[in-house]
Amino acid sequence: MSAANARLHDLAPAPSHAEQTELHPDLNRAHVRFINLGKTYDGTVHALQGIDLAIQRGEVFGIIGRSGAGKSSLIRTINRLEQPSSGRVLIDQVDIGSFDEDHLVALRRRIGMIFQHFNLMSAKTVWQNVELPLKVAGVPQAQRARKVHELLELVGLQDKHKAYPAQLSGGQKQRVGIARALVHDPEILLCDEATSALDPETTQSILGLLREINQRLGLTIVLITHEMAVIRDICHRVVVLEHGRIVEQGPVWQVFGDPQHEVSKTLLAPLQHGLPPELQRRLQPTPASADAALVLRLQFTGSDTLEPDLAALFSALGGRVRLLQGGVERIQGHALGQLLLAVNGSPHNAEELRKRAANWAQQVEVLGYVV
Ligand SMILES: Nc1ncnc2c1ncn2[C@@H]1O[C@H](COP(=O)(O)OP(=O)(O)OP(=O)(O)O)[C@@H](O)[C@H]1O
Ligand SMILES: [Mg+2]
Repeated sequence: MSAANARLHDLAPAPSHAEQTELHPDLNRAHVRFINLGKTYDGTVHALQGIDLAIQRGEVFGIIGRSGAGKSSLIRTINRLEQPSSGRVLIDQVDIGSFDEDHLVALRRRIGMIFQHFNLMSAKTVWQNVELPLKVAGVPQAQRARKVHELLELVGLQDKHKAYPAQLSGGQKQRVGIARALVHDPEILLCDEATSALDPETTQSILGLLREINQRLGLTIVLITHEMAVIRDICHRVVVLEHGRIVEQGPVWQVFGDPQHEVSKTLLAPLQHGLPPELQRRLQPTPASADAALVLRLQFTGSDTLEPDLAALFSALGGRVRLLQGGVERIQGHALGQLLLAVNGSPHNAEELRKRAANWAQQVEVLGYVV
């Protein structure tokens, strides 16, 4: 057990033997666990209902869902900024529900948090912003200076230590936010829309920093975002919330490669290439003439880690195969993507072509015909 764990365990009695053994081994090791969690605001707004979820130590875990789905409410129960209405939150198997104020202060030092709007103190310099939580915790001056110096180096802001927030770019402000979130060497970092106010390039640099923090410091990161590309680029697993309930969860490659729930499909649609409008207009349900080409959509959902063998695929289809649109990307080592193919002059009928293509892709659809 790490020193950090030991400290958390000091805060509350260990779970009973019975409670531990009835769990699946993965759940026994879970860093954060929600058990039948519910949150109701004002007695009427059911923001979270029946949430059962386990986040493993050291993973980057994404939470997605439409606006109002309950993402912020869920993440904020981890550091008890939000008090659950029912159910339990365990951190390292410790139920935090019974924590008093002192225990909560200690808990919140184990859990850093960053926000969309950075929440920096405008009248304090970069250095003072990062130093403040250490001062509040009564850390001696020399130790504070060492820590602030180390963190500004980690986030690449050494030369900005005298600047005020107004003199910083959005990306630099978020770097200060990250440094400040790390002052107490937390085990968990919560990110609520931390890159939403940033341009794509700055987002990439902040994601790079988060990835480094995850890998180098071993932090568990729980991240909410509306940007699906952020989940694709940095998360290991993802959960989809809708009306306060979990509708889907799994490894990112799986959920992104083959989303099951309507909400997941809608959220992920921007990442998927639809039919080009020009092709959509030309598409017909039946062949208009003898030289009409059959249009097939091949989807690679990532269950195979190999990229498609195009030569073998084209030869199995027979005739003349043209690529209308498509591509494959890799997420967590899995090949995901789609190909839109037009097949002319093949000796096989549509159903036979679909079957043949299905040897090379996880999902194949006949979309129609084009001349
Ligand atoms: N303090 C509050 N008082 C009353 N209702 C609240 C409060 N906070 C959140 N809610 C309600 O709870 C539901 C979930 O809100 P939450 O902020 O968790 O959603 P979210 O998924 O984070 O949305 P967004 O993507 O817009 O940030 C919403 O219906 C919201 O209006
Ligand atoms: Mg929110």
